[in-house]
Amino acid sequence: MTQTTDRIRALTDLLNRYAYEYYTLDAPTVPDSEYDTLFRELEALEASHPELRLPESPTLRVGGAPLEGFDSVRHVVPMLSLNNAFSPPNEDGTFDHSEMLAFDERVRNGLSGAQPEYIIEPKFDGLAVSLLYQNGVLVQAATRGDGSTGEDVTRNIQTIASIPLKLHGDTLPELIEVRGEVLMLKADFAALNEHQAANGQKTFANPRNAAAGSLRQLDSRVTAKRRLHFFAYGIARLEGVKAPQQHSAELAYLNQLGFSLPEGNYRVFPDIHGVLAFYEKMSKKRPDLPYEIDGMVIKVNSLAQQETLGFVSRAPRWAIAHKFPAEEALTVVVTIDVQVGRTGAVTPVARLQPVFVGGVTVTNATLHNEGETQRKDVRKGDTVVVRRAGDVIPEVVRVVFERRPMQTDTTVSAADDLFAETVADPQPLYPRYHLPERCPICNSPIEREESEAVARCSGGMLCQAQRAQGVIHFASRKAMDIDGLGQKQIEQLVGQDLVKHFADLYRLDIPTLQQMKENADAEEAAETETEKVSDGPKKPLPTKWAENILAGIEASKHPELARFLFALGIRHVGERTAKILAQAFGTLESVRHAPEPLLACLPDIGSVVARSIAHFFAQPEQQAMIDELLAVGVVPQAQKISLPLAQYAEPKKWINRLPEFKISETKAAALWDLAGQNIDNLINDQALPADWQQWRSQPANRAILHAVKDFLSRMPSETDPTDSGDTNAAVAGKTFVLTGTLPTLKRDDAQAMVEAAGGKVSGSVSKKTDYVVAGEAAGSKLEKALTLGITVLDEAQFLALLSHKS
Ligand code: IVH
Repeated sequence: MTQTTDRIRALTDLLNRYAYEYYTLDAPTVPDSEYDTLFRELEALEASHPELRLPESPTLRVGGAPLEGFDSVRHVVPMLSLNNAFSPPNEDGTFDHSEMLAFDERVRNGLSGAQPEYIIEPKFDGLAVSLLYQNGVLVQAATRGDGSTGEDVTRNIQTIASIPLKLHGDTLPELIEVRGEVLMLKADFAALNEHQAANGQKTFANPRNAAAGSLRQLDSRVTAKRRLHFFAYGIARLEGVKAPQQHSAELAYLNQLGFSLPEGNYRVFPDIHGVLAFYEKMSKKRPDLPYEIDGMVIKVNSLAQQETLGFVSRAPRWAIAHKFPAEEALTVVVTIDVQVGRTGAVTPVARLQPVFVGGVTVTNATLHNEGETQRKDVRKGDTVVVRRAGDVIPEVVRVVFERRPMQTDTTVSAADDLFAETVADPQPLYPRYHLPERCPICNSPIEREESEAVARCSGGMLCQAQRAQGVIHFASRKAMDIDGLGQKQIEQLVGQDLVKHFADLYRLDIPTLQQMKENADAEEAAETETEKVSDGPKKPLPTKWAENILAGIEASKHPELARFLFALGIRHVGERTAKILAQAFGTLESVRHAPEPLLACLPDIGSVVARSIAHFFAQPEQQAMIDELLAVGVVPQAQKISLPLAQYAEPKKWINRLPEFKISETKAAALWDLAGQNIDNLINDQALPADWQQWRSQPANRAILHAVKDFLSRMPSETDPTDSGDTNAAVAGKTFVLTGTLPTLKRDDAQAMVEAAGGKVSGSVSKKTDYVVAGEAAGSKLEKALTLGITVLDEAQFLALLSHKS
């Protein structure tokens, strides 16, 4: 038996030490598995010898059988409250410390002019509890209750990992009553709410409520599953050891006994000034703390001085709570608008009845997106909790549904339903929220991709809200690369409506740029309220900077096609996609008319990207914008086609990618064969399968087929080899070898012509060679071509091939 007793003792001590290292010191010394094994051993021993279970056994941490109710506990030393000091920050954001200075003066008067040391510590936003230890073992834990009588929550408190079940150290007090706060860390709160929501259970409004709800569980096994934390902030009774003389020494002692302290967030100062500076520092740090605090508590550090000062009614004269502004407040949603961001993101915003929260008056709060708004079910007229923590944008946290305005006009519903036998439940006065379908700024459709929470205005450059961003992108290094035109200047040009479209950049002149600068300077002067001293006639301003900008703009007029396409800011078209488009189509004319099913065949372009491109070019406003650019002399260079459509957009592929016609590539190939591999038959043949005829009977779908047909028939004919840079179907992708001296063409020129038409020139003849162009004194290469049966051309035939038009 003594063996079992000893083993239980040893396991209990060891496991308690490991738990302390893990939870309080945050420095585990053994792996979890080791802990678990020992824990199970202890559980088994206790199960067979329940009378040997120690009062500090770690197995208490998992909770026990539910209680019928909580017993009352009378506090031997009452749990008092603190006087508060709170004055909202001044308009300029500085703090008003007058109440704190008054406190300091009262204290010094109470101490007959002596200068007390102060300690400042967090005011935890949780629940006060009192923990009684006898001979080092936790025997009772109670809530504050009314201050004189609380509830016995011992079983629940025993489940909190950061509360020692047995105090640490060799010389333990016979009795100690520890006061402190039970709270839930922000991260644990978020995880709990997520878990609750996922399981259809009620969520908690804030960490404080979650902590209270968890601590006041009759079933301590539930408490054990909620992660609660405890910070000690004082000692109410102490017997059997020498008492500390300062509050700071009390805290240090509590720490020795195994309690956690808010490390780094409390400090002793020789006078009130340091205290106030620390308070300001903590107010900035507050949003980043892992737990919620609603202010700082300032206490006279010396316990002797505390005693001299004593109490008034139920609060100490030696302490004060310097509150922070509340981070949450109630107000009413006047209406819900949407805001369009610089990237086109559309965000619902609640316009609020002004409310003071987080130290400022708030009139707008973000609702994040449509999904969030619907999940929280925020509607016009609702009373809501608004939160502003630190400098974070104010947000609507939740609706107080009990206060939702309901339809009271019964005459309407009676008229609607004359034969209704029972009166229907009152309905909300305002409907569920939906995003508008069109952008409030430019009236373009608002779109949301399935996988995304954020909705966007599809207007791009057509939308005032997105213009500056669009022009900045247009001018950026990887796009049109306009040297000398900075982000700030673009913002000014767009902000002053001097640039509305890309083409406007190319119409800028020195006077306009000067005008822009003057306006910007005037605005800045108005903001800083500095007066302009003007004496005598205006000196002509230097214009070098403006000339530089104009030179940069001018130099950007002949971009590579890929850069130009990237610059347009088409959604989903990054540099890589722009390059692919350029390589596949060669000219802007082709790209801007390419039908969606063909776009969707290109490498790396999926249906979403293809739709986005087609949608962009389907808007007449966007086409007009491109025409304007061409009109002001921006001419993207045509380039050779290195990804010929014929190679990528085989019929089975583009048929497979037709919108809303679900068909595999294999079946698409069969359909193409049925149609005699002829697009006109595909469009008109009455003998084709019914589902196909059904699909193509839709006018929009017919239009797509015609567009594909027209495009494919035009694609090759658009290539004109005399127009250097364009490709030629007979040459594109083919390999040439040049040998001997041609009558008129230089070798380099011939090579350039092949490349311009999309072909390749190689130095040696192989089976992969398509043509050998032979001139005077052609040698071994010509011989090899003849043995391999490769077509040999003379200069005239070569030129004819280059001008070939199909
Ligand atoms: S000392 C006699 N220190 O504030 C004064 N209280 O209004 C005893 N609180 O119910 C309290 N953090 O729950 C003290 N660092 C702290 C505190 C703190 C939070 C709470 C406590 C109490 C209330 C007093």
